Amino acid sequence: MSAVGAEAPRNCRLCPRLAAYRDATRAKNPDWFNGAVPSFGDEAARLLVVGLAPGVTGANRTGRPFTGDFAGDLLYATLTKFGWANGAFAARPDDGLVLAGAMVTNAVRCVPPQNKPVGDEINRCRPFLAARIAALPRLRAILCLGRISHESTLRALGAKLSVHPFAHGARHEVAGLTLWDSYHCSRYNTNTGRLTAEMFEAVFEAARAELGPEG
Ligand code: URA
Repeated sequence: MSAVGAEAPRNCRLCPRLAAYRDATRAKNPDWFNGAVPSFGDEAARLLVVGLAPGVTGANRTGRPFTGDFAGDLLYATLTKFGWANGAFAARPDDGLVLAGAMVTNAVRCVPPQNKPVGDEINRCRPFLAARIAALPRLRAILCLGRISHESTLRALGAKLSVHPFAHGARHEVAGLTLWDSYHCSRYNTNTGRLTAEMFEAVFEAARAELGPEG
């Protein structure tokens, strides 16, 4: 049983640097969400996608993970392609997009300056990730976007990092779950060619092949 709930309180102040950054962003943009961004998706999810942290003008503005962030265009298109999302993603929380059998969350729930959470912040947010995982009764697989997500998820599951090295497309068996790794679908990774849409889709395709169809 986890000591915290699966979602951080919107005005969580566990990380002083992140709380201060949110306060400063709220002062400049009072109509933005500016809070700990809750997970989005299906409570009956068999697949949990774990990102890094909200982008300042994306999820931190809109209040939904990967929504308004460049990275969300590829993520939600891919979830739709492999049958985990229905509706038209329009980068707004009221676009009507519905996830089916999947949930999207972040290793760190609050926007970090320069998109870079520090170790302490990742550690302080981990109980929410652990609780999120524990609260999904049908969960079978976790797809980690990037190394920070991968390592925080392994720690949340009590697994050894040295036994499960991060690699794009890697598949690990951890605590009764399958854990898939992908490079993060960030603008930087796609612009530099480190991650192509084909490489990203291949990971979701493999997860779908293993999980089978929804329903
Ligand atoms: N937006 C998110 O919510 N998470 C990420 O990891 C990147 C962008």
